[in-house]
Amino acid sequence: MARIQIKDLVKTFGAYTAVNGISMEIKDGEFMIMVGPSGCGKTTTLNMISGLETPTSGEIVIGNTVINDLEPGERGLGMVFQDLALFPHMTVYENIAFGLRIKKEPRAEIERRVRAAAEAVHITPLLAKLPRQCSGGESQRVALARTIVTNPAVFLMDEPLSSLDAKLRVDMRTELKSLHARLGATFVYVTHDQAEAMTMADSIVVMSKGRIEQLGTPLAIYNTPATQFVAGFFGTPTMNFLEGTVEANGASRRFTAPGIDQPLPDGLPASIVGKSVTLGVRSEHLLVDANAPHAGTVLITEPLGDATLVHFDYGHGKSLVAKVPPTTTLGPGSTLRFRFAPEACHLFDAAGGARLN
Ligand SMILES: Nc1ncnc2c1ncn2[C@@H]1O[C@H](COP(=O)(O)OP(=O)(O)O)[C@@H](O)[C@H]1O
Ligand SMILES: [Mg+2]
Repeated sequence: MARIQIKDLVKTFGAYTAVNGISMEIKDGEFMIMVGPSGCGKTTTLNMISGLETPTSGEIVIGNTVINDLEPGERGLGMVFQDLALFPHMTVYENIAFGLRIKKEPRAEIERRVRAAAEAVHITPLLAKLPRQCSGGESQRVALARTIVTNPAVFLMDEPLSSLDAKLRVDMRTELKSLHARLGATFVYVTHDQAEAMTMADSIVVMSKGRIEQLGTPLAIYNTPATQFVAGFFGTPTMNFLEGTVEANGASRRFTAPGIDQPLPDGLPASIVGKSVTLGVRSEHLLVDANAPHAGTVLITEPLGDATLVHFDYGHGKSLVAKVPPTTTLGPGSTLRFRFAPEACHLFDAAGGARLN
């Protein structure tokens, strides 16, 4: 059983608290991704799981065993890092075999496992090559094979794709996801890249400043961000945010800000009336429509191919971005009208950023 439970984990470096009380459970066989901006404590958390760092307080349990005091080698974990550290003078085969040779596994067993691991990441033709004869993507696969060969119940990966170019990184996402499905192991993966987290994870832990902001499935996090921080972190382009207040009109609620008077979804509590809020709306939910209530002037357009981003000024010192069909004829200086549905509105407390709806 490779379920991992983390309880109130804290790590301080002198007066600085890098990890500030993290609790979570990673299910057996799950692909769990910790994501957050640089410096939020991802690597420190992963290193406490692997045993490279000692927790200041808190507990880490794998299966039914508290592992805080186990040596890294006793934890049954496999690690893949951004810094590949392949042995340059050894062939790919020998790099993959290294860990098994150290353990004095029988020669035939080593041969069988190296070939199976190479097969799993499609590098069988490279086995006789040296690392310098491999491309970046191939080297990353060698590093993966070197971990796969040790057959760990848990894979720990710290930004393993960040040294690859953009196209390869996208290809490797698909590969890692299918590798995870084939191996059935627990993956704990760290990245600052929200797109990696969205595309690969079964569940995501969003971190900021040493704490968990939100824990959930990729779509739950995208559709119902728990805080303004999470809302702004996921999605390209970044969610539009408008500052305003909530007003009551009988039982219904409206959001008002200079130039905007917007109906809000049903069911909001009375306590929200009069509050200063930040309204979030994603670019794909800002609809450009000649009969819409709000007006704006186009600043720039960015064609993406499958859609076009239209940045526009709505006359109150703030620009918004809408994602529109690529057939749009809007250009800089064009006027447009826009609207968005009450259901597309995310409301956050202007003080603190907690979700209100
Ligand atoms: N050994 C250390 N000594 C002092 N500060 C550290 C040490 N390791 C990490 N930190 C600090 O802890 C914070 C979190 O670091 P880290 O976990 O590496 O962040 P992330 O991986 O999310 O970018 C950073 O501010 C970093 O400077
Ligand atoms: Mg890091």
